[in-house]
Amino acid sequence: MRHFLDLLDVSTDEVKLLLAATAQLRTKERTKFLPLAGHCLGLVFEKPSLRTRVSFQAAMGQLGGTSIFLSGADAGLGTREPLSDYARVMTSYVDALVVRTFQHATVQGFAQYAYCPVINGLSDYYHPCQALADLFTISQHFGSFAQRTVVFVGDGNNVARSLAVGCAHLGWKFILACPKGYEFDEPFVQLYRQRFPTFPCETLHDPIAAMKHADVVYTDVWTSMGQEEEAQQRLKHFQGFQVNAALMQHAPQQAVVMHCLPAHRGEEIASDAVDTERSIVFKQAANRLHLQKALLLWLLRPELMPG
Ligand code: CP
Ligand code: NVA
Repeated sequence: MRHFLDLLDVSTDEVKLLLAATAQLRTKERTKFLPLAGHCLGLVFEKPSLRTRVSFQAAMGQLGGTSIFLSGADAGLGTREPLSDYARVMTSYVDALVVRTFQHATVQGFAQYAYCPVINGLSDYYHPCQALADLFTISQHFGSFAQRTVVFVGDGNNVARSLAVGCAHLGWKFILACPKGYEFDEPFVQLYRQRFPTFPCETLHDPIAAMKHADVVYTDVWTSMGQEEEAQQRLKHFQGFQVNAALMQHAPQQAVVMHCLPAHRGEEIASDAVDTERSIVFKQAANRLHLQKALLLWLLRPELMPG
């Protein structure tokens, strides 16, 4: 059975198929295309969510299906019963399951026991739905899949890892501009190198120097969900790494600003970078809906994938 846990599991052709289908689905007239009628999507979230939760539930509804969202005590994995039991029971009621967890191992545990496809809706290690939607947004903005340079200013976190892999699939250059100590971890670097030996991603510690060839300047929170105890020290370590109008002056004219959201304005990003013509942040958020329609179709009715 096919799951979607991270972009290292997916082929480059599959990435391109998903992006092509997203473009088609974005313009498809609603109410006339209901390929998932009779299907139910489950969502089990250990952490809060606006975009991922709502875009998946809306996508499922627009494709004719229904969805069930569980959080709080109902998503208390491993507390009321073992994960292996929870996963088998839950996935015998639904046709696909989106999980958002603290530990990536929990996502993998779900996939191990599930009777239906499991989608990673964010773990501490990866955020592949976000990355695919971001590739779509970038390619739509520039009008092609031609070579780009994506500069991620901030923490080498879940969003950055998935985006780096996504960029490698398309042959785009990825630069992580981070303070010392916040680079990609060695196990990830090894996995990345095994999969993409000819696309080494670069790490720089000077955000201004990193701007030089940027087509996209991307950032995310300095403290991810689950790292709240480190918030104060991270605030100190990330000084000088804010994406703002002054930093953007060092980027080429065509460079755009992206952020997966939620944004902590005044920390990793300033309003003078979000609320400008150079920002495609809200298109980026909107595209989650279209990309996830393609993903649901690919997992549940692959024969109906447009592209
Ligand atoms: N970007 C993103 O995944 O947002 P949520 O945490 O609101 O789902
Ligand atoms: N890195 C952030 C992304 C939120 C969408 C987090 O994990 O909290």
